[in-house]
Amino acid sequence: MRWIACFLILLSTARTTCGDDAQAAKDATIVETLLRLKTVDVNSNPKLKDAVLRHLELHKGTPKYVDLIERLNLRGVEEALLQLALADPASTEGVRAGELLLKRGQAELIAARIDGDDEDVATKAISLLGYVDNKDALEILKPLALDDQRSRPLRTAAANALGRSRLGERYLLRVVQDGRLPADLNFTVANVLYASSDDAIRIEVAKHLTLPATAGSKPLPPVAELAKRSGDAAHGQELFKTKATCIKCHKVRGEGKEVGPDLSEIGSKLSREAMFVSILDPSAGISHNYETYTAVLDSGNIISGLKVSETDDSITIRSAESIDKVIAKSEIEEIVKSTISLMPADLQKTMSEQELVDVVDFISTLKKTAS
Ligand code: HEC
Repeated sequence: MRWIACFLILLSTARTTCGDDAQAAKDATIVETLLRLKTVDVNSNPKLKDAVLRHLELHKGTPKYVDLIERLNLRGVEEALLQLALADPASTEGVRAGELLLKRGQAELIAARIDGDDEDVATKAISLLGYVDNKDALEILKPLALDDQRSRPLRTAAANALGRSRLGERYLLRVVQDGRLPADLNFTVANVLYASSDDAIRIEVAKHLTLPATAGSKPLPPVAELAKRSGDAAHGQELFKTKATCIKCHKVRGEGKEVGPDLSEIGSKLSREAMFVSILDPSAGISHNYETYTAVLDSGNIISGLKVSETDDSITIRSAESIDKVIAKSEIEEIVKSTISLMPADLQKTMSEQELVDVVDFISTLKKTAS
């Protein structure tokens, strides 16, 4: 009873004019009290709710934020939870926000982001579903991985997300066994299932899919395994410029051609795992502005490459050999954007496993310098 009396006094004074600090202190006490009075529904009292919302605002970005929303059973903040979850789906806070949303039956809210126009947000929403432990999440991911109306990066993200749970792994395996896996996901799914901690899954997938082979036709281990190996960065630098041919398409600190992105700071952008994936399965996540265009000309010639510029009458296409060709639009019969990267998918074949690790070791050292 004492608590309730004290609480009512607090509430009645909550809106009096006082400094921000005093207000914050009052809000904090209200929240503290609400946490003890389990029977009060904060959602049905606008004044209380305002106090809680003000208090929450001060705790944005801290672990307390989601915790309070959950413990106070605060409603109407689903959009804020979603924003938090999508800001960093692979963080403790992001996952907690996502799990709370799903617990509250808001799977649709996340699904709507996956169906939206923003591919970056959609990819984050998909990876969020892979990190949360929830059945509804699996049900959204399953059809997505196989939906040929979806872009390859989205399907790849869905397959990777499914690979984060045992039920998801089993689903992927069944799809493989039934021969229903789209070929462009072979690498992603093999990589996920070969890394399973379940022996039976690893044995079964090996009957159907193989991982890319290096020189000497030796299949590589899954990327999760490769990323743990250490190599010789100096040797990797040498290979980058020679046998591995990376320099024919990538610039590093001013040296090299500009077919692919400049890799001078790639070590600050990608994890080691992501680097292996970039090399072994280049089309899985083609960076913006690096889509391959294929133009069929009236002459019957076909020209493929990156679109480096476009005017009213012409398009300039850069080939994999870094040769720019200006094509008059009047000569083009058809031009299509392809989902296959200009970066060859079998570069690892020129290298041994150790050499591949050395190359990744080298590009991992390419970090932003503090200016
Ligand atoms: C024939 C040209 C070509 C060659 C050779 C090539 N790349 Fe690429 N690379 C590209 C293109 C184009 C892209 C951008 C499209 C994409 O992401 O697939 C790219 C993307 C990448 C990315 C991702 C960059 C980012 O910002 O996300 C990495 C990492 C990379 N390449 C590393 C390498 C390494 C290492 C080698 C040598 C073993 C290599 N590449 C050889 C053309 C090439």
